[in-house]
Amino acid sequence: MKAWRFHEFGMENLVLEEVESPPVGAGEVRIRMRAASLNYRDLLMVKGRYNPRMRRPLIPCSDGVGEVVEVGAGVQRVQVGDRVAGCFAPEWQAGDPESATIRQTLGGPRDGTLCEEMVLPAYGVVTVPAHLTDEEAATLPCAALTAWSAMFTMGNLRAGDTVLVQGSGGVSVFALAFARMAGARVVATTSSADKEARLRELGADHVINYREVEAWGRAAKEWTGGRGVDQVIEVGGAGTLEQSLVAVRTGGHVSLIGILAGVAEPLKLTSILMRNVRVQGILVGHREGFEAMNRAIDAHGYRPEVDRVFAFAEADAAFAHLASGRHVGKVCVRIGDG
Ligand SMILES: NC(=O)c1ccc[n+]([C@@H]2O[C@H](COP(=O)([O-])OP(=O)(O)OC[C@H]3O[C@@H](n4cnc5c(N)ncnc54)[C@H](OP(=O)(O)O)[C@@H]3O)[C@@H](O)[C@H]2O)c1
Repeated sequence: MKAWRFHEFGMENLVLEEVESPPVGAGEVRIRMRAASLNYRDLLMVKGRYNPRMRRPLIPCSDGVGEVVEVGAGVQRVQVGDRVAGCFAPEWQAGDPESATIRQTLGGPRDGTLCEEMVLPAYGVVTVPAHLTDEEAATLPCAALTAWSAMFTMGNLRAGDTVLVQGSGGVSVFALAFARMAGARVVATTSSADKEARLRELGADHVINYREVEAWGRAAKEWTGGRGVDQVIEVGGAGTLEQSLVAVRTGGHVSLIGILAGVAEPLKLTSILMRNVRVQGILVGHREGFEAMNRAIDAHGYRPEVDRVFAFAEADAAFAHLASGRHVGKVCVRIGDG
């Protein structure tokens, strides 16, 4: 089969090559991939910035969807012909994770989805909502589930709450949509006027340009009438957390998800403890959460926001597009006949 792989770190080393298709063992399924979707993590992975000791060669990307074409002995959960997506951490089925269960994630250290065929344990795949295109369905395993886990599995979001989402990337646009689905209000931050308009079209109640309004945390808090937002989807990390803690209400919830703006900075802890704020680290989510999210997507007929779809042979261009930051929502790659 053909797969995109890198033997050395660096975008220039990502190549399309012939790779042996793994055999299907007992309890496993073979999936003919139809679409993959990129995450910021995949960029970091290829560049060697996610983990400089990551094993190589590696097939990148954690998100994808395909058709089950072969099942191993004892498989009952899925059958040939089912359209499925692999879970980001196939071993993490439900509840709190153990270190070992969240170590074996797709797209590093396990081979990922940017290939024509994958073999996964049957317990590590879920069927995807029937109304979605392959590209739309391919966006769900990482970014969507991360937003879902942050707000519902860990955050207890309720109708009438206000959620602050940062930027217009994959995780944030899913958070926007899911928050609206649940009857919450959304304040979004972004870097440009074009994206401001797009975020409004996607349902944001209020948008703040963080390049123009440096104190966007205060602006968000003022927009809530001074109470503060109930939840923050924190994808900026070190460069944005200080403002997020200004924006969040006393007793509110900050989901620490990303590091787009930095990994480490000094922090005034009193802004957390004196105001009873919950700061919760989020690592994507478990299979049970993925299935719950899919039921909600199904019930609402929701369609993920796909910015652009690239052909399999142009997956390197898809990475470049993601790196440019021009996208809103998800960047996808069609695989095979799609
Ligand atoms: N913990 C987890 O489980 C998990 C899961 C998924 C992703 N992540 C992390 O979450 C982050 C976002 O991932 P993604 O895949 O959604 O990324 P993405 O699709 O590449 O989104 C990037 C967008 O974020 C916005 N942005 C960039 N720098 C920003 C800043 N300093 N402040 C506010 N917004 C900024 C920009 O949108 P605008 O131009 O509109 O501002 C940019 O287009 C990454 O750090 C990723 O590693 C973590």
